Amino acid sequence: MLVIGGGIIGLVTAWRAAGRGLTVTVADPAPDGGAAHVAAGMLAAVTELHYGEQTLLALNLASARRYPRFTEELEEAAGTSIGYRRCGTLAVALDADDRAHLRELHALQIRSGLDSQWLTGRECRRLEPMLAPGVRGGLRVDGDHQVDPRRLASALLVACERAGVVLHRSRVERLTVDRGRASGAELADGTRLSAGQTVLATGSRSGRLAGVPDEVLPPVRPVKGQVLRLRLPDVPAGSPAFLSRTVRAVVRGNPLYLVPRENGELVVGATMEELGWDTTVTAGGVYELLRDAHELVPGITELPLVESSAGLRPTSPDNAPLLGPTALPGLHLATGHFRNGVLLTPVTGDVMAEVLATGDLPDEARPFTPARFSPAAPGTARTRLLEEQPV
Ligand code: GLY
Repeated sequence: MLVIGGGIIGLVTAWRAAGRGLTVTVADPAPDGGAAHVAAGMLAAVTELHYGEQTLLALNLASARRYPRFTEELEEAAGTSIGYRRCGTLAVALDADDRAHLRELHALQIRSGLDSQWLTGRECRRLEPMLAPGVRGGLRVDGDHQVDPRRLASALLVACERAGVVLHRSRVERLTVDRGRASGAELADGTRLSAGQTVLATGSRSGRLAGVPDEVLPPVRPVKGQVLRLRLPDVPAGSPAFLSRTVRAVVRGNPLYLVPRENGELVVGATMEELGWDTTVTAGGVYELLRDAHELVPGITELPLVESSAGLRPTSPDNAPLLGPTALPGLHLATGHFRNGVLLTPVTGDVMAEVLATGDLPDEARPFTPARFSPAAPGTARTRLLEEQPV
């Protein structure tokens, strides 16, 4: 089988499929994890819950539960750490509007049976003393953790190679179709790769591959995110860390997060911009992130700024991924993971490997088949997702 795309979703699909005994090839000019190279790596099933996305919540939680085991297996296969850290998350409010918004989120979390505790501003600052004095309250979510997406991507690449996955570091020119069935791909260097099953996993570019029939092309678009990387100060053993957990907020309507890693990196993200395939890091993007982060944690302005980058979130019309077979026999999708690609990596690998090895899509993936974007049929997953919107 062939996986087009060497982002974390393509790589985890290839690794897990190889583990099921399939012969797997990955084609990508730079199989380095794709958008994960920019991502912060929050595993935020609870703090990123939104109205109307309860179906997606079930998949997010299923993947979060798999992370400990997945980490063990991947670290053993690759011989390297992926920086999985059970640090929890604190989502805070800076003004009365933010607090009202967080109260609503808390009510939704509780209605959804999730573990989330309301804290006063004082309690938030007791947990994270670097928070601004003006913090008005927050949510303590001890189950939302983090992983280092760059290490995750490197480990998946090594694990793929060790599992016998063949890598073609070349651009895919087109999908090939023979007698109404996907039959592999033609690479930019002229190589033809034949495959009985092909998985399209090229993130935000998944809707643009030549050769894919129009009615099968996934409705995926890019949503740009600019992200900063700062360096945390060294602290003597036993002294409190600058931040001990992920801290998030919505500042003037912009979602903001600070993710402190054990290796001393502090990731600050992220903008949400609908600008096509533009990945320019802009002065405005950097300014807004630093301005909002400074409002949340004033001490960040003392930290060295070591990197700024921008990536593209692959976004579907309902913000949920497209997983499994398409209407074109032999062609599967694993794309559209939007803000949850890192979180959804373990469950995506498992469900894709299952459908590729057996032909059966596991139950947890059924609401996310590409068929929901075919002309609306009552009772399809798409209809259900829309029906969950509050009136
Ligand atoms: N999951 C965080 C983001 O997409 O910015």
